[in-house]
Amino acid sequence: MNCAGKVAVVAGGSSGLGEATVEALTDAGATVVVLDISIPEQGAGYEGTHYRVADVRDSDQVAAAIEYAASLGDLRIVASCAGVGSVGKITRKGQPLDLNEFQRVIDINLVGTFNVLRHAATRMVENEPIEDERGVLIVTASAAAFEGQIGQVAYAASKGGIVGMTLPIARDLAASQVRCVAIAPGLFNTPLLGALPLAARTALEETIPNPSRLGRPSEFGQLMRQIVENPMINGETLRIDGALRMAPR
Ligand SMILES: NC(=O)c1ccc[n+]([C@@H]2O[C@H](COP(=O)([O-])OP(=O)(O)OC[C@H]3O[C@@H](n4cnc5c(N)ncnc54)[C@H](O)[C@@H]3O)[C@@H](O)[C@H]2O)c1
Repeated sequence: MNCAGKVAVVAGGSSGLGEATVEALTDAGATVVVLDISIPEQGAGYEGTHYRVADVRDSDQVAAAIEYAASLGDLRIVASCAGVGSVGKITRKGQPLDLNEFQRVIDINLVGTFNVLRHAATRMVENEPIEDERGVLIVTASAAAFEGQIGQVAYAASKGGIVGMTLPIARDLAASQVRCVAIAPGLFNTPLLGALPLAARTALEETIPNPSRLGRPSEFGQLMRQIVENPMINGETLRIDGALRMAPR
């Protein structure tokens, strides 16, 4: 699907990989609505982008943001990048991992992603097809879905859920000509990792075979755009990680 003239929603588009997605889709000619709990101050966001405050866990807030996007034209592209990290082993110093923390991460990363997709898909299936496509849903998993490290049990479970739901959603929506694709990034230079001390950052970079550096958010945005543009990519999780396979720690 050509991005030009299409309406796109980017969940988590105020920062990091989501922000780079906003830039890539806007540069390709899409009108972008960002759905995020935190939005830039008036005038400080990406030029031409519409910002709506919404928590991905909240059905009404997400529905309102999707409605707003659909009021701008046919919603054909949804990129879900909202997510949070979490660190904690299953048990430590005689205490089990806090179940509320486990549930919080699953709620935001997995249930929240699904919440965005279900509202968006309900709209997309009503679109008129353009070149045999009504829309595309792209979600953000992580290399941790496959090689979760020590202390990543909640995060890895949430991202594994995203990988697991990608094919059944693609199958659910196949008859409606809507695709669903997941991206599993390795280590990217977003505010989270960019804030690390130089030594820690260098140590991380040395674990990435080639190119041996953190991914640039623009490279993630580029993949988002390529997935939108290539109608044959569907029902799959694409790794973008410089051949990184994460060790236990
Ligand atoms: N940066 C990496 O190296 C990396 C690697 C693998 C996967 N990921 C995944 O990519 C996605 C983006 O990561 P990032 O590094 O850009 O992080 P980031 O913190 O820079 O951006 C995340 C965005 O999501 C928003 N958000 C968080 N909770 C939300 C909620 N409940 N409702 C709506 N918006 C919410 C935040 O406000 C923020 O704008 C996440 O899902 C993350 O797990 C990142």
